[in-house]
Amino acid sequence: AKILVLHGPNLNLLGVREPSIYGRQTLADINTALVAQTQAAGHELDWFQSNAEHELIGRIHQARDEQTAIILFNPGAFTHTSIALRDALAAVAIPFIEVHLSNVHAREPFRRHSYLADIAVGVICGFGPDSYRLALEAAIARLDRPAP
Ligand code: DQA
Repeated sequence: AKILVLHGPNLNLLGVREPSIYGRQTLADINTALVAQTQAAGHELDWFQSNAEHELIGRIHQARDEQTAIILFNPGAFTHTSIALRDALAAVAIPFIEVHLSNVHAREPFRRHSYLADIAVGVICGFGPDSYRLALEAAIARLDRPAP
């Protein structure tokens, strides 16, 4: 099945951006590992990063046309601001997992609220690049589970 990994604003700077919070791995390192993990499980992965809200919305709409089965989404700061991204995910009705490298609950109070979390399948945060690996493992398990 098709899995889409979406990365929001400033995640193109991973590796150099506040490494004490986000670690030293680059976005390319993370995407390479996710592609390998997906292929090993017999699924297909595409990824997309944008700093622009409308591009992320467009990519979510495109995922519907492509019959994407599940989305892993690190919305960056849009997590805490974007009703439009919430509406896009609700509109396409594709299940998604919210992912954060940092533990958003252990930082500034404004990072505790997410506009997406309550409509997500689940949320994984605080494990650095492993947050993506764990989210992908959960996504694959969900795809491989026989329909009830
Ligand atoms: C983040 C957490 C957000 O609060 C922040 O704005 C980011 C990255 C994370 O992965 O930890 O850009 O989504």
